[in-house]
Amino acid sequence: MKQIKQKVVVFTGAGISAESGIRTFRDSDGLWEEYNIRDVATPEAWAKNRELVLEFYNKRRKQSLEAKPNPAHKALKDLEKKYDVIIITQNIDDLHERAGSKKVLHLHGEINKCRSTVDETLIYPMKKEGIKLGDKCERGSQLRPHIVWFGEMVPMMDLAYEVASTADIFIVVGTSLVVYPAAGIINYVSANIPKYLIDPNEINVSGIKNLTIIKEKAGIGLPKLVENLLK
Ligand code: OAD
Repeated sequence: MKQIKQKVVVFTGAGISAESGIRTFRDSDGLWEEYNIRDVATPEAWAKNRELVLEFYNKRRKQSLEAKPNPAHKALKDLEKKYDVIIITQNIDDLHERAGSKKVLHLHGEINKCRSTVDETLIYPMKKEGIKLGDKCERGSQLRPHIVWFGEMVPMMDLAYEVASTADIFIVVGTSLVVYPAAGIINYVSANIPKYLIDPNEINVSGIKNLTIIKEKAGIGLPKLVENLLK
């Protein structure tokens, strides 16, 4: 008889891609030290200075194309040998997919895609050179990055809450857990299941039951945890 696999839900943030050379947002060398969120990652920024917004995301895309999956991304692929693994990521890079993970839900969009500014269902693969001013969708509107900006709805949020609520094991990796609604996902996970949090820094998580904190970089802590879960 075929055994039903346990479901592992993994919630990832910028920290899992840090060892691949992609900058996080809030560490000391983070992106939000160099840029003001309001200038590049909001609908107001898009209304005010499209060129700056496009330049910011074209740089993010170049950086993500140059990066390679690290041992943490690869460990999550290995976890599929024994578990039904669903990754809910806040990251816009595609390193989970390139490591081979099959089920990845991008809460904050994807840097390899662009979309229409008049119809959000018109989504296209990004051209090699990124988006330029004047690049238009089939309805004639300027293309924008397929990214969820601050102040915009997170369309995948309800699905993510639902997935989290059915987890048998929940793992959090490399996120400061300060950006909502995404960070609220941990409150939808059943109190009784085992939970793990991997981050080299102190993260503010109080009142979460059955939580094991692994204070290590993702590239070290995650392969070790996966090895234990596969035993
Ligand atoms: P942050 O930059 O806020 O947090 C990164 C986390 O990764 C921190 O907790 C670090 O301690 C941790 N970290 C750093 N290096 C690590 C390593 N090698 N291994 C494991 N962890 C490491 O990034 P996010 O929490 O992902 O949204 O940020 C959430 C959202 O805020 C992003 O999706 C983005 C951003 O503004 C939008 O742009 C909409």
